[in-house]
Amino acid sequence: MAFPQSFLDELVSRNPIDEVVSQYVNLTRKGSNLFGLCPFHSEKTGSFSVAPDKGIYYCFGCHKGGGVINFAMEIENLDYPDAVRFLAKRAGMEVPEDAGYQSTYRRQERLWALCRDAARWYHGKLQEDCGRQAREYLGKRGLSAGTVTRFGMGFAPDSWNGLIDAMAKKGYEKQDLLDAGLALKSEKRGTVYDRFRNRLMFPIIDVRGNVIGFGGRVMDDSTPKYLNSPETVIFNKRKNLFAMNVAKKSKQGRIILTEGYMDAIALHQYGFDCAVASLGTALTEEQAHLLSKYTGQIILTYDGDEAGQNATKRAIPLLEKAGLQVRVLRIQGAKDPDEFLKKYGADRFKVLLDGSQSQMDYRLESLRGKYHLENDDQKVEFLKAAAWVIASQSSPVEREIYGGRVAEMAGITPETMKLEVNKAFKSMMAKRRKEQEKKDLNPAREQQPKVRNIRYDHVRSAMAEEGVLQTVLREESLLDRLRNLPGGQFSVPLLGRAYDALQQQRLHGGLVSLAALEGQFTKEEMEHLSGVAHKGSALVKEDALQDYVKIIREEYAKREARQDQDLMGLRDRLKDKKGLNG
Ligand code: CTP
Ligand code: MN
Repeated sequence: MAFPQSFLDELVSRNPIDEVVSQYVNLTRKGSNLFGLCPFHSEKTGSFSVAPDKGIYYCFGCHKGGGVINFAMEIENLDYPDAVRFLAKRAGMEVPEDAGYQSTYRRQERLWALCRDAARWYHGKLQEDCGRQAREYLGKRGLSAGTVTRFGMGFAPDSWNGLIDAMAKKGYEKQDLLDAGLALKSEKRGTVYDRFRNRLMFPIIDVRGNVIGFGGRVMDDSTPKYLNSPETVIFNKRKNLFAMNVAKKSKQGRIILTEGYMDAIALHQYGFDCAVASLGTALTEEQAHLLSKYTGQIILTYDGDEAGQNATKRAIPLLEKAGLQVRVLRIQGAKDPDEFLKKYGADRFKVLLDGSQSQMDYRLESLRGKYHLENDDQKVEFLKAAAWVIASQSSPVEREIYGGRVAEMAGITPETMKLEVNKAFKSMMAKRRKEQEKKDLNPAREQQPKVRNIRYDHVRSAMAEEGVLQTVLREESLLDRLRNLPGGQFSVPLLGRAYDALQQQRLHGGLVSLAALEGQFTKEEMEHLSGVAHKGSALVKEDALQDYVKIIREEYAKREARQDQDLMGLRDRLKDKKGLNG
């Protein structure tokens, strides 16, 4: 959906970036910028900066950046149109919406309301006579009244139409219940009936606090043990995690990821308010991304069985790809965290948590599993492979500790292992040195953007293009002097597009700021542009601007000439060929 530019301009000016960011981050002024701890990665010293005059933010640590809309997208986990709506609401502005959106949004709002009412109803049933067995079950599982309230747990009575009737009284249609996944339709008779019957109910709540679905557990050994809401217009299992709405507020600095609802809930009850559970499926990339918005460290504590360990192996690379540090907590003496807590208590769990295996231990353990150590050849192979893994640690103390551990695994002396590790370490250093030399010989590489998928092929021109953008973003009136410089002459298409868009804004009296352009660029592109805007000196250098323009023109002319030559060359070659053939 495209919003009118004039609306976006007003939206951006009525949501000053420093005000919006301050709601999430403590900012202190340093010169013309404000600094604070980056909300997108964990850090101890603030590398997150906000430039109110430019309307943008940028993190020098994780290179995230953009305007106020981008910030809202990142921090509130919204897509672009929803971030626009979020900011409009904040500033008390009316959003010009198209009819299509109005109907889907109304639909979503109705289903959110319905799920909330259903959750309240289930919760109420738990207190009534029909909920006695469920209350007993909860007691048996050791859940306190406070926990039951905090998670809004409830009970679906053993009835085919209890929920449907109750919701009808509140004005909901059968179709609403079908769309929300709360009811089913019998194909044969065409009747509609409650999906959840005689089950303990776990509402699933998204990070914005909307009830989007349910998990329902039987209270005996019948199957299926859990019944979950199907995918609906408000429930996307890939994008949500159970208890994330609570865990996102935790101050524990990490998130504990479990397999089961009951595990997450038990952890909360025992004081670990940073626990979440995946929704009965393997962890997805979207869930990893969601986690990375709230923490830098994940502790995986899946069940101790084979399925749990396999799920752990699959989750690690996904989480690491999202920039998360991963530790693995192996549950021993119980089948899952819930059972462990009941058997051994919170203190024992805390010990496990703090001693949770580092990636290195986990990698070495997994490596060991691949070799038959009773076979000498295999043992040698294992030791070599392990030495390489250990050599990647930069601290000698760590190399020694892990070396010792591997020596023990393989039954050799630590000294022998140390020799092996040192050998691997030396070759690794030599390899790195060679790579560095290659880099040094090619300084252009250092100027390359940090953002994925954006490359500078003509560094001299690209630097000048960055300079132009930095200058006009500081002093927009200078754009008027550059009217005869088209963005098409820029060597980096992205920078050219940004420049052209700024020219357009200036021409039409719009807001000349990166923040006003967000709808036209992808998140990665915005990140890169914010990085560019944050570089360079705070002074506007008008003479430099003339130099930049000169360079861009020269380099453009060179590329054009080269292209002509290439074309001519091609023609000549074609001619030669013809000559040969003819
Ligand atoms: N699950 C599911 N459907 C099933 C079984 C499991 O969706 N038939 C999902 C649920 O989200 C469940 C998770 O997988 O929480 C883990 O399953 P399990 O370990 O069996 O459940 P627990 O959460 O440990 O529940 P309990 O302790 O009550 O048995
Ligand atoms: Mn369990």
